[in-house]
Amino acid sequence: MARQIANLSTADSQTQKTALQILATDGIFTFSTAEREKWQDEFLAFANSLGDVCVQDDCDPSGIKTLPAEVACKGSILHTDRGSMERPPEIVLIFCETQSDQGGESIFLDGKALVDTLPAQVTSDLAAENSVCFGFPKYIRMTRILDETKDQRRFIRYRNDRWGFFAPSIRAHVDTIEDAFADLTETVRLPAGTGIAFRNDRYLHGALPSKAGDRIIHRLLVANTSLQYGFE
Ligand SMILES: [Fe+2]
Repeated sequence: MARQIANLSTADSQTQKTALQILATDGIFTFSTAEREKWQDEFLAFANSLGDVCVQDDCDPSGIKTLPAEVACKGSILHTDRGSMERPPEIVLIFCETQSDQGGESIFLDGKALVDTLPAQVTSDLAAENSVCFGFPKYIRMTRILDETKDQRRFIRYRNDRWGFFAPSIRAHVDTIEDAFADLTETVRLPAGTGIAFRNDRYLHGALPSKAGDRIIHRLLVANTSLQYGFE
């Protein structure tokens, strides 16, 4: 499925251009680092070449967030990162420092394929104002699941967990939406020393639980890229 960019240490202007082209079309690619012990430098330099790395209150000063071990091993259902922001950061980069011996696969779902699959009434309700509330109490936002930019490009944010509160009009469609997840979810096993970059305004992401062994995962969020926000 996802195309691959090898060796982040070669993140020259051509590599950066290729990365942005793939993000504009496919919306997702995998990558590997050239030198495992220098992964932090390569990961940060590559992310900074794509746009502005977001430094938020739950990550280190460079912008890298290392998932707590219990979160990385427990896995997560499909979701959008930072759905409570007016415009969630457009790129997420995940780097796998250590992979589980069993389980721990990353999962992805193309939101463009999802909205093109769902019945028109469902997509209409997903686009209704104030039909969802996302976030922690500190960052709460009433908004839409399927939103639109000024130039009529769509973008999606979704999370059906304790950080997403759906209006009854959306709750009525959850089974239809999540039945479609089953057909559209792609599974990627990231070997240690590799990562994946994807459009957070298009793809939902998550992870399957680790069944054996530790899993150490780091994340970066990138905003203000040269990409057009959303998808057609
Ligand atoms: Fe996430």
